[in-house]
Amino acid sequence: MSLWSVKWLVLWSLWAARLVRQPTTTHHLSNGPVRGSIAPDGSHASYLNIPYASMPQRFLAPGPEPKWDQTFEAVNENVRCIQSMADILTIGGTDCLSLNVYTPLNVDPDSRLPVMVFIHGGGFFQGSGNMLIYGPNYLVPKGVILVTMNYRLNIQGFICLRIKEAPGNAGMKDQVAALRWVQRNIRKLGGDPDNVTIFGESAGGASVSFHVLSPMSKGLFHKAITESGSALAPWAYQFRPIFMASLVARTMLFDSQDPHELYKYYMSKSDDELILTRVPRKPGNIIISEILYTPCTEKVIEGVEPFLTESPYDLLSKGEYNKVPLMIGTNNEEGLLLFSADNETSILKVEIEKAIPKNLEFPSQTEKIKVAKELERLYLEGEKLSLETMTKLVKWYGDPYLISPSLEETEFLLKSSEHPIYNYLFSYDGWRNLPKLVRAGSVGNFPGATHADELFYLFSQHIVFSNFEKDMIDKVTTLWTNFAKYGDPTPEGSSLQVKWNPTNATTPTCLVIDSDFSTAPLWFNDRLKYWRDVYSKYRRKR
Ligand SMILES: *[C@@H]1O[C@H](CO)[C@@H](O)[C@H](O)[C@H]1NC(C)=O
Ligand SMILES: *[C@@H]1O[C@H](CO)[C@@H](O)[C@H](O)[C@H]1NC(C)=O
Ligand SMILES: *[C@@H]1O[C@H](CO)[C@@H](O)[C@H](O)[C@H]1NC(C)=O
Repeated sequence: MSLWSVKWLVLWSLWAARLVRQPTTTHHLSNGPVRGSIAPDGSHASYLNIPYASMPQRFLAPGPEPKWDQTFEAVNENVRCIQSMADILTIGGTDCLSLNVYTPLNVDPDSRLPVMVFIHGGGFFQGSGNMLIYGPNYLVPKGVILVTMNYRLNIQGFICLRIKEAPGNAGMKDQVAALRWVQRNIRKLGGDPDNVTIFGESAGGASVSFHVLSPMSKGLFHKAITESGSALAPWAYQFRPIFMASLVARTMLFDSQDPHELYKYYMSKSDDELILTRVPRKPGNIIISEILYTPCTEKVIEGVEPFLTESPYDLLSKGEYNKVPLMIGTNNEEGLLLFSADNETSILKVEIEKAIPKNLEFPSQTEKIKVAKELERLYLEGEKLSLETMTKLVKWYGDPYLISPSLEETEFLLKSSEHPIYNYLFSYDGWRNLPKLVRAGSVGNFPGATHADELFYLFSQHIVFSNFEKDMIDKVTTLWTNFAKYGDPTPEGSSLQVKWNPTNATTPTCLVIDSDFSTAPLWFNDRLKYWRDVYSKYRRKR
């Protein structure tokens, strides 16, 4: 058979198999009866887009879960919260608070398998938990239950006016509602509610980091993995939420900093208007600065259960957070993807002093300029920014935004947690590094892995043939599922030829995940060491 006919045969049988759905037995969950499907290849059962909460009035915490009497057929593959597509139209809807559950076959309430709950990334303004990207075929065969979810995004999920009508963190409260649903129901689907690992990437990794900090999430999970995201990342936390809230209104020519007036104004606008109004970025800054709506510190308001009432820095430095075993990691060329998402015109306009991350504050302009000069030396290495030299900024797009925050967070946690912290640096460059291959390939020769590359060794996708990279997929999923099972990615007797030791404060190290494993210092180059120094002096704390 020619390659083409093989392809058609594969496509056709996938399509045909989906037409003849094989339903699971009916499970009586807290919402009502639910039926999923058995995967065409018999590898697992899936329960797609079960509503875990009802959509409340805009900006409020999610409502109670919807209930039903008739069997709910959990087969809808494609639900997402409303978001912009290419800045010109919106996709997704408002009925989006749903989650997907994937289990091995033949499990019952006595199986008590470890549960891995994944929180998707997308800058808190895009993405979904759908299996188009986050498919279960690699993780579930390792004997875990996988849950993925949607949560409200952008203004709808993250406006923070600190008033009763819009207290803030609605999207994080959605995630908490999903975790509570898991507590209520996962036993019936074969999972152990006392063995829950949350993991997430990018904004999802930052979300996991916020759940570690939030009193609202206490007890809802027992281990946590952050991939390329932290509550300490400059883009992940709103220091001045009312000001941020005023920006979209101002772009629509409504100028106010009064939370009640802003609330009234936003309530008079459609979802599409709120999402498609794009606040222009400040000249000289980079694309990441366009992320505006993210978690915040709420005001204590009577009758409102807050997600967070103190800043990440305050909670971490006081050691007041949910102490659990952690895995924390990043990829070695994080910045490549974000650099490739920015356009040439704006990259050539970058000025280091204007692009200094917003979670730094300086006692004087002189000191700021001094730091900017040193950063310029470290990144541009004495050259002027031009078409020829601009890829020197690739590391600028990654170091302070994605790598150093996770290292900072690790250092804080090491001071106050008695649980192990496993640090990794994912550096593997193979056939499934899709973000790099598809998006960032043309930027230049940057060996290693960029932002989100590791996801394609954890999750299966319909559209990408899964015969590539079996070995690497096996290594990565074994580390992740071992951690979910035992709180240790390389327990005694593990099949991997490596022992991954927890990080300690005396010699902080990380495991380098590449075709061969090795170890490296946690602060693995001079630029990162300089950032560490800068943050120790100038961190904006709240
Ligand atoms: C480049 O990005 C800037 C900032 O988002 C935008 O204003 C400009 O129109 C873009 N230019 C091109 C050529 O796409
Ligand atoms: C979690 O699940 C694993 C695998 O089934 C089991 O060995 C472990 O004891 C469980 N941990 C807890 C805390 O229940
Ligand atoms: C700290 O970690 C390093 C690297 O894994 C290890 O060699 C060292 O023995 C550890 N030190 C302590 C005090 O545990």
